[in-house]
Amino acid sequence: MLSSRHLLGLEGMSKEEIQLILDTATSFKKVLERPIPKVPTLRGTTVANLFFEPSTRTRISFELAEKRLSADLVNFSASTSSVLKGETLRDTARNIEAMKVDMVVIRHSSPGAAHFLANCLDSAIINAGDGAHEHPTQALLDMLTLRERFGTLAGLKVLIVGDIEHSRVARSNIYGLNTMGAEVAICGPATLLPVEIEHLGVKVYHNLDEILSQVQVVNVLRIQLERQGKGLFPSLREYRQLFGITAERFKRVGRELVIMHPGPINRGVEIDSEVADLLAGGGEIRNVE
Ligand code: CP
Repeated sequence: MLSSRHLLGLEGMSKEEIQLILDTATSFKKVLERPIPKVPTLRGTTVANLFFEPSTRTRISFELAEKRLSADLVNFSASTSSVLKGETLRDTARNIEAMKVDMVVIRHSSPGAAHFLANCLDSAIINAGDGAHEHPTQALLDMLTLRERFGTLAGLKVLIVGDIEHSRVARSNIYGLNTMGAEVAICGPATLLPVEIEHLGVKVYHNLDEILSQVQVVNVLRIQLERQGKGLFPSLREYRQLFGITAERFKRVGRELVIMHPGPINRGVEIDSEVADLLAGGGEIRNVE
């Protein structure tokens, strides 16, 4: 049983709750193998997908899941809405909820936006990414992928590489993986690592080759090109040399290494196309979209 009807983040979620979500996802995944991949679980439920930020994977994943679970759904995109006329998040959400909505999926650039809606709406709220705070469904998908691959998350050695400071994917993965008993390390330029990140229960590395030789999984984060020019690292070329999953670096590992990337990827920056597209060097590419 889940302790909340909302899914706002993985911080504070118990091992049993994460286990329950992963087990439920595993059984629903089998529905996709049926000739008609649809079940009546959410029949009579109306879901509003509120996307205030661009999204490809998350928006389409939610929409397909809702349709396959027989929910009614409405899609909202801020760029074609009355937000452009100055309407607030609260007013927008409350007006949509008044049209008999039961559940709201929200992606927003502000950390805390999902918590805010949970406090001012009656609907169940699902966080589809709130600023640099959390992206719980991405981390649940990552954990499901790893559980399928390794059988268990306990004791798994996972490295997260890149822009941890601005990454909601990193935060949710750190919370979830730690709760499930994995060992999490992070690596990146000092300017992209939050101060006192060790307090979240991760080990910090600045030399990628040193830690890459010790882990089973590397989760590669997107370099947020929109932050270029802000002096966070000297150049994309230097970033690739020091922190990129290059073909040479990948081959040097010389054993199986599961590589994940939440997408969208910057080819030739945080990961080489050769690594993203091919099985190479005894390793395996998983979950690269
Ligand atoms: N991984 C992820 O959240 O991708 P989108 O931004 O395309 O949804």
